[in-house]
This record gives sequence, structure tokens and C-alpha cells, in this order.
Amino acid sequence: MSSSDLIIALTKGRILDETLPLFAAAGIEPVEDIAKSRKLLFESNVPGVKLMVMRGSDVPTYVEFGSADMGVAGRDLILEYGTEAFYEPLDLGIAKCRLMTARPVGAPPPTERLRVATKFVNSAKRYFAEQGQQIELIKLNGALELAPSMGLADAIVDIVDTGNTLKANGLEAQEVIAQISSRIIVNKAAMKMKYERINDILARLRLAVEAKVS
Ligand code: PRP
Repeated sequence: MSSSDLIIALTKGRILDETLPLFAAAGIEPVEDIAKSRKLLFESNVPGVKLMVMRGSDVPTYVEFGSADMGVAGRDLILEYGTEAFYEPLDLGIAKCRLMTARPVGAPPPTERLRVATKFVNSAKRYFAEQGQQIELIKLNGALELAPSMGLADAIVDIVDTGNTLKANGLEAQEVIAQISSRIIVNKAAMKMKYERINDILARLRLAVEAKVS
């Protein structure tokens, strides 16, 4: 790989399904079908622009350290990682959802310190501190919705889209901590060193986002 290449880290999974059409509308497409390949690094139709595919939680790391020049990451993971580590110039308006607190349906107000299970520990810590509420945090990596019914926690902090997962597990959403969508993030040094190319890609994506909205 040449250091003059422009590397874009994409979040795999559901976000990728919404990212690829937007990138295609911006004139940036992988030269082979990402879904049909086990590869993680792809050439694109734009000379010198390469696309990587990884877990969303790893995109901020690749971008902060400059192994990727740009990335597509959910705002939930950006907030969790820390927003100072890179620039965040564009909201793609895709994969929209909310980061919320949730508790069992009809749960009485807690009399003791609330036990909160989440994988978004930094966001949860910040939120409850802002509320002046002392909590006990329990870090989980998935299936958060099980924690209250299994007696592990009184509440969870998780992503809510349709609300079906909460409902299916006897939980109800309470407070919105943040509105979430996927964003473009850019490595700070790359923004200076590769300004023209990054700016060109941002301009194309901005137009594609606007065309989708209107
Ligand atoms: C997310 C989240 C919830 C679910 C919410 O999980 O953690 O479980 O989606 O969506 P809903 O409100 O439409 O039911 P995801 O499937 O992204 O997997 P994850 O557990 O790996 O985050």
C-alpha cells in the first residue's frame, strides 16, 4: 500500500448496507462485491482510494492513529471513544437510532444506587454524572436486554431503533441520552496532508446526503 493512498474505514454490518449506496451515489464504489468476499481491504473505482471493512468499535481507533485517513462510524461509538480524537465533518444521516436508558416495564424508582448494565460505559457514566445520579456500572458486550430480568442490573443503556428488542424483553425506554446516526470521521494529520482529496470526497458525500434527504 502506498502512503499516498487514501484509506477509508467502513463499519461492517447494517451500517455498511446503508453506507455503500451512499458512497456509490458519491461516485465511490468497491471494485468487487464486499459482501461476497472474505477480504477486508478493497480497491475502489477511484484511483488511490481504498476501502477497509471492520467492526464499528475499531473504526475510531484506525482513524485516530492514522492507519485509516477517514472512517464511517456510528455516533454511539464516537461518543464512547471520545470526540476529540479526530474531526467529525459530516453526518451521513444513516443508521439513525437513539442511545437510551431503559428499565423493566413498571419498575418502581430505585431506592438504592442504580445498577446499570451497558457496553457504552463512558457515555453512561457521563450521562448519569450530569444527572447527579450515582450508579454502579456493569460492563457487558451484548445481549444487554437480558441483564434486568436476570437480576444483574436495574437498568440498561443501549441503542434503541424500533424498540422491538426492549419490548420483547419486558423493558421500556426512558431517557434519550443521544440521537445517533453514522458520521464521517477524519484523521487530524490526514486532513492537512491529504486535504484536497479528503475535501473532494467530503463534497461528493455531502451532495449524496443532500440528494437523499430532498
Ligand atoms: C442493537 C441494540 C439492540 C437493538 C435495538 O443491537 O443493541 O439490541 O439493536 O434495535 P430495536 O430497537 O430495533 O429492537 P444490534 O442488533 O445492532 O447488535 P449488537 O447487540 O451487536 O449491538
